[in-house]
Amino acid sequence: MFPQTRLRRLRYHPVVRDLVRETSLSPRDFILPLFVRPGMNIKNEIASMPGNFQLSVDRLVDEVGAAEKLGIQAYILFGIPTAKDGQGSSAWADDGIVQQALRALRSAHKDILLITDECFCEYTDHGHCGILKERRGTLDVDNDATLPNLARQCVSHVQAGADMVAPSGMMDGMVSAIRKGLDDAGRSDIPIMSYAAKYASGFYGPFRDAAESPPQFGDRSSYQMDPANTDEALREVALDLDEGADIVMVKPALSYLDIIRRVKDRFGVPVAAYNVSGEFAMVKAASARGWIDERRVTMEILTSIKRAGADMILTYHALDAARWLR
Ligand code: PBG
Repeated sequence: MFPQTRLRRLRYHPVVRDLVRETSLSPRDFILPLFVRPGMNIKNEIASMPGNFQLSVDRLVDEVGAAEKLGIQAYILFGIPTAKDGQGSSAWADDGIVQQALRALRSAHKDILLITDECFCEYTDHGHCGILKERRGTLDVDNDATLPNLARQCVSHVQAGADMVAPSGMMDGMVSAIRKGLDDAGRSDIPIMSYAAKYASGFYGPFRDAAESPPQFGDRSSYQMDPANTDEALREVALDLDEGADIVMVKPALSYLDIIRRVKDRFGVPVAAYNVSGEFAMVKAASARGWIDERRVTMEILTSIKRAGADMILTYHALDAARWLR
């Protein structure tokens, strides 16, 4: 057989490797999750998420200033409110914690993109993602009763300065309810990034500590997806796109790279992937013990998510990775 195929020819010279590289990362690919809480001058590191903090509004403004200097231009906000109730009504309060953060960030930093997570688990006293009602002798989230509240939350966030809303509660019909709410409020310009294929995952553990949002009973299996399913993810995405989603998300990322790829191939729309808290914590814990090389593994992970088909990555590694990419 001649000429003999030699794939190593493209691997000897570092510049050739650069030229043939199919996937590259930039700080512009990242969306940094941020946790905001009431108070002044608070910056509490989250034990299971080193380098990530619960921040008061003043310190949040500083944190975003530093991140922006590293080239991070998109942020997603999570709120930790003072008061919780059955409905999560502080989620749509005009003086709610996320609303305060949005106003402060909007006036301090002009060019950044502010995305808001739209859900109730941080705001309800029971920690579930919507209003509860009894079903077969147990309490469960009432899908349709939750939808108007979601629309209210989104409109309130947009009025306070959000550029994009990201519903994460896995309610059926959430995208159309939000789209209608925003359009009726005169904001047909605001895009929706839907957490379309969000799995009931063990990888959310550290986040629930960070956001103080674990369910007080039961789990989220009646609204989040079964990790065993893949066709169902395509149905979720198809429905959300039909309802008006502009960007669809797959979450978590690493155990679901196949889902990212299928969604990208099938729909060809902008895809976001959420590299979640437990995925981040595993890297931090193993590298702290010297078991893996943090920088190398982090870049490999982020590259793999992009290679799988994600256009953007929500990641707690954003600041570290942006520093390494300089
Ligand atoms: C709210 C929400 C969760 C995450 C993002 N939005 C938690 C959950 O569904 O329990 C998890 C993010 C992470 O683990 O990094 N519904």
